Amino acid sequence: MGSAATLDCYNIADLREKARRRLPLGIWEYVERGVEDECGLARNRAGFDTITFRPRVLRNVELVDASTSILGTPSAFPLAVAPTGAAGLLWYQGDLALARAAARAGVPFTICSASTMDIEEIARAGGELWFQLYMWADRALSHDVIDRAAGLGCSALLVTLDLPVPPNREYLHRNGFGTPFRLNARNTLDVLAHPRWLLGTMARYAVNGGIPSQANLPDRLRNKVTQSAHPGAHFKQDNLDWDEVARLRERWPGKFVLKGILRADDAERAAAMGADAIVVSNHGGRGLDCAVASIDALPTIVEAVGGRVEIVLDSGVRRGSDVVKAVAKGASGVLAGRAALYGLAAAGEDGVVRALELLKAETSRTMAMLGARNVSEIGPDLLG
Ligand SMILES: Cc1cc2nc3c(=O)[nH]c(=O)nc-3n(C[C@H](O)[C@H](O)[C@H](O)COP(=O)(O)O)c2cc1C
Repeated sequence: MGSAATLDCYNIADLREKARRRLPLGIWEYVERGVEDECGLARNRAGFDTITFRPRVLRNVELVDASTSILGTPSAFPLAVAPTGAAGLLWYQGDLALARAAARAGVPFTICSASTMDIEEIARAGGELWFQLYMWADRALSHDVIDRAAGLGCSALLVTLDLPVPPNREYLHRNGFGTPFRLNARNTLDVLAHPRWLLGTMARYAVNGGIPSQANLPDRLRNKVTQSAHPGAHFKQDNLDWDEVARLRERWPGKFVLKGILRADDAERAAAMGADAIVVSNHGGRGLDCAVASIDALPTIVEAVGGRVEIVLDSGVRRGSDVVKAVAKGASGVLAGRAALYGLAAAGEDGVVRALELLKAETSRTMAMLGARNVSEIGPDLLG
């Protein structure tokens, strides 16, 4: 059960509102906003909202079982927690809180390359773990982290492909929360106006040596988010190509997953190079503003490679009915980015548990309404 702090939250939107109130504007915008004109954010929701169901009646849905397997990993329902690099800014040791909550809720958790704690600390949470990769300019650094993730028992590697260059986050220039993070006239009042975050998160880091940035790098490249990053600590993905990804495939012993695919021909190529799965994703509307919504891109991709590679979907999932829609259209499950982060910012680990419980309950209820007693009974025939 979620904590008392979130018991009056009955859906993800309630947790979102609590998160918005607790976070300083700059951090909130980093979590919530898209890029440029934010058409992508709206399109992600519109894509889900326009899908309807055609429920089947009299199916005896007394016992509904939403459990399933995603990327070969058991999950309490068809959802895993997406990689979200900024978790440590929302809550003290936020990466660990997310991982612990996912373990409690019985869903897989994806550790990030950009986590603010090193992966060994996060892995102590237990549960089912995957690892998400961004490449540093010095590829040896990335290879080292990949090997560490494999050694920690992460069963899947998600290589994120959809941010070849940094996205256009105009709001960061306005709200004064750039990197490195420094207090200035614009953001000081904002921070002071959010004492729960200031004391509960910032102050705890301050007494424990500051918020690490790029925690997964060797000591010589590690830094604090309040300091300029070492030049070697920036990700460099603009020169990534299929050949390099094929070499990563050879290196990784577990499930190999390409995250950020929106085209059938790229999905075909992923299948041909030996990927086990793809994540159909537009990065939650945080990369290319005019990208197609993932849920709209899904059908052509399922048609092209369904059955040859597993297909997971993210971007815009806020309800259990969204989970069911994605599965009905051919995904084995979804990743939740912001939905989990709202819970984290609202009430830490217990808030994330609450978010996952709400999504699971909504998924099971939707299945019952549709006459689907287990995940294998969710199919396109249930769509309107
Ligand atoms: C604050 C934030 C940080 C993120 N950081 C990463 C990251 O480090 N690596 C990555 O592959 N995706 C990252 N993502 C994208 C998520 O993995 C996921 O694709 C996206 O959040 C899904 O959309 P949703 O937020 O609507 O669920 C991030 C998303 C958010 C909201």
